[in-house]
Amino acid sequence: MPPAVGGYAERFGRSGHVHVGDQMRLLLIGAPGAGKGTQAERLAARFGIAHISSGDLLRQHVRDQTSLGQTVKSYVDDGDLVPDGVVMDMLRKPVLAATSGYVLDGFPRTVEQAEASYAAVRALGVEVQAAIHLDVPREELMRRLLARGRGTEDAEAVIEHRLQVYLEKTVPLLEYYAGREWMSTVDGARSADAVHQDIVRRIHKLAAFAALDLSRS
Ligand code: AP5
Ligand code: MG
Repeated sequence: MPPAVGGYAERFGRSGHVHVGDQMRLLLIGAPGAGKGTQAERLAARFGIAHISSGDLLRQHVRDQTSLGQTVKSYVDDGDLVPDGVVMDMLRKPVLAATSGYVLDGFPRTVEQAEASYAAVRALGVEVQAAIHLDVPREELMRRLLARGRGTEDAEAVIEHRLQVYLEKTVPLLEYYAGREWMSTVDGARSADAVHQDIVRRIHKLAAFAALDLSRS
């Protein structure tokens, strides 16, 4: 049984019963600048699901100077991962509130987060059904992030560090998920439109496994 995605076995494995009209619950994985936010926003609009971005939520807490924001500010500014417990506590409410489904952007980003969150969401029946990996070469990531310049975290040295953290912590998650039928890698270096169309095509293919409701697409 995969750690963060359990919908298929649940739906097909034991009972053989297929839930048609189920919510769509997607996961986007990619390096800093890969286009997770850009694509998640489009998918959310297209399928009428919530866009839940761990990074956006953390930045909002920093801007609002909440106590969580004060705890996480130095991690976000330095491009280090925020402690797992803090991120998971923060995401619980929006994930549960997303009754029409969700596209999760930026979580899980380590094997540990995937394992820890799986048990929790599975118990609630809101586990992810399909994961898309956005694959973009390093030079293109650097180009995009330097052009964007989102405050301290997009300074060149911090971008370098974020990319290093991605290699060390998130690439092992991709290796861990490799070969699963609900996981699909998309070439994210093309135009945002082309990437979106490709993701939608993959989701339709994955829907054969997941019994996703594509009536709204
Ligand atoms: P997070 O906000 O997740 O940042 P990130 O992974 O570094 O990624 P970005 O948001 O910078 O890029 P993106 O992939 O969303 O790309 P985007 O669409 O913006 O995390 C920030 C921090 O929060 C972390 O460093 C960490 O401290 C903390 N954190 C978050 N989640 C955590 C977790 N689970 N555990 C622990 N800590 C966590 O696009 C980038 C740019 O490229 C934009 O300008 C966009 O317009 C452009 N662009 C997008 N697509 C294309 C395209 N196809 N062609 C040309 N340009 C494009
Ligand atoms: Mg983002």
